[in-house]
Amino acid sequence: MNVAVVSDGPLKEGSNVRNIPFFYTSKLFSMGEVSSRNLQEVHLLVIELEDATGEHVSRLKTALAGVLDLPKLCIVSKANRREVVQASAFGKVEMIERDEDLTTLVRKMREMLKPNFEVLFPETTPETTREAFLQTAACLDEIVLAAASSRPMPVRTLARTLHHIYSALTRDGITAWLNAVKCHHSHTYRHSMIVAGLAGTFAQTLGWSHKDQELLTLGGLIHDIGKTRIPLSILDKPGKLSPEETELVRQHALFGRDILKSRLEIPFEVKKMAFQHHEFLDGSGYPHGLAGDQIDTMVRVITICDIFTAMTETRSYKDAMSPRNAFGSLCAMNTKLDQDLVRAFQPVVLSVDLGALNRTVESLFDGKRATGTAG
Ligand SMILES: [Fe+2]
Ligand SMILES: [Fe+2]
Repeated sequence: MNVAVVSDGPLKEGSNVRNIPFFYTSKLFSMGEVSSRNLQEVHLLVIELEDATGEHVSRLKTALAGVLDLPKLCIVSKANRREVVQASAFGKVEMIERDEDLTTLVRKMREMLKPNFEVLFPETTPETTREAFLQTAACLDEIVLAAASSRPMPVRTLARTLHHIYSALTRDGITAWLNAVKCHHSHTYRHSMIVAGLAGTFAQTLGWSHKDQELLTLGGLIHDIGKTRIPLSILDKPGKLSPEETELVRQHALFGRDILKSRLEIPFEVKKMAFQHHEFLDGSGYPHGLAGDQIDTMVRVITICDIFTAMTETRSYKDAMSPRNAFGSLCAMNTKLDQDLVRAFQPVVLSVDLGALNRTVESLFDGKRATGTAG
């Protein structure tokens, strides 16, 4: 989803607008330089009007004449008459108070972007799975907003969501879940929902308790929560990351620790999945190089589901592996992974057609490949 942010001069420290790149793929333009060409692929324009000069407002108005239907959201102080008059000069605009919190800003943007988010389910999607998907997507929105602020995680919504996913997996199976999940426009959401579905199904296959199945599902949903601190322009970058960008992405496990450590509402087992899902049994993983018994069984399960998901996803720079080949790669990782668990994962892997999943994802998104970074 492309958002352009326009401001006259650098954004002030503490401005909510600075957080937009963590929620939407965004580009920042200086008001005096923006042109209608810059705005061609944009779905929403956010205009920060603080300290904007009359000359630059006129220049932006000229640029907007080339993109008449572009939705516009102006950040203003409604008590400042000059800013309100400037905003009105852009034609049909929505306005939001500069002092509103980040949640209100992101929700407003989501509302304005809604026509681009319409979900087109395959006709065969069962009702329970359809409901579970919609509930989970809304829940992930709440989780991301809570992660970006000091608000608590939405525990009631989480509990309801886990119940929906459990019902969907039990009643309709993992393939129906994966087929619904592929409809989400965000790569990171799709990835988290796939890991959650695989982890929940894996726990069922292992005969684990209902509570443990829910812990694994929740772990799948939020294992990459630290990525909310990495701009989407890096996470969704088409092509290889630079060494600096790769290093930043690797820090998501530590960011996840930062976000979750003081949140008493999140079970300890789930926090561990977020902190440790890139650790390997032989000590070669990150961030801490933990080894052997230092890594719990639940974390080992999430790691297997996460790697399998990353290998079977299509990215701009790589083809998707078939489930069979990905399973072979998990076996080849040998002492890095718990091979007893890898063997137990086989029936889960062979019951899904992820090849079909990736083919449909490509057709859903205009033949463009999904982009992003592994794991
Ligand atoms: Fe990760
Ligand atoms: Fe992941």
